[in-house]
Amino acid sequence: MKPIVTERLIIREFRPADLGEIYRILDVELKFIDSTKQDSSIGQRKKWLEWTIQSYEQNRLLLNPPFGDHAIVLKDSLQLIGVCGLVPVLAPLGLVPYYRYIADAKDSDQNYPEVGLFCAISSHYQCRGFAYEASMGMINMAFEKLKLRRVVAITHLYNNPSIAVLKRLGMKVETLPEHKWMQVVGIMENDAVSKQLGKQAG
Ligand SMILES: CC(C)(COP(=O)(O)OP(=O)(O)OC[C@H]1O[C@@H](n2cnc3c(N)ncnc32)[C@H](O)[C@@H]1OP(=O)(O)O)[C@@H](O)C(=O)NCCC(=O)NCCS
Repeated sequence: MKPIVTERLIIREFRPADLGEIYRILDVELKFIDSTKQDSSIGQRKKWLEWTIQSYEQNRLLLNPPFGDHAIVLKDSLQLIGVCGLVPVLAPLGLVPYYRYIADAKDSDQNYPEVGLFCAISSHYQCRGFAYEASMGMINMAFEKLKLRRVVAITHLYNNPSIAVLKRLGMKVETLPEHKWMQVVGIMENDAVSKQLGKQAG
């Protein structure tokens, strides 16, 4: 993916030299793990980084969308401060009333494929609007270049900062408090695509 440049940030592909910094941010500071099968060792983070970097090339060769985590760096110092990316989502989104309506998804037992947004910011740089700015850059690219119909984000009910970012982005945010891992769903529709579809239909 070509770097995305925003007012204060550059979102670029990860490089092998980012290992120390990204290990410090994700595993030491944020203690971020995606599944119980993952540990917080530098060895595990190195494998993740190698896989992430290889996937850029393979996605390009296979003409896939630029899925995967990308580095968020400050424009002025080039300091790595976080991660942002688009990820494939397969989730029972029919449980979400707004999704049922906009995607005509009537079945709550089925999984629906969508493109999800992920973002994490070093604790030293949080609450300065960087997650909002990076996510907005990623969503703009997804809507303008990839022509995506919508972007979704899934988070936990306790993740108030994440929920605040989704709301500030203008996502429609719905909660499913009883669900194990899909308690909060943010949905952002591509208005340009919606208008185009409306014109074709009308
Ligand atoms: C979620 C996360 C990416 C936000 O990063 P950030 O750069 O601090 O985000 P921003 O500065 O753009 O916005 C933070 C928002 O959270 C709000 N916030 C911060 N702490 C909060 C809290 N404890 N309770 C409620 N809101 C809070 C801020 O007020 C701000 O909202 P506002 O813009 O409406 O004022 C960051 O907290 C993080 O990396 N968390 C760990 C990883 C994670 O959970 N990622 C999301 C996975 S879906």
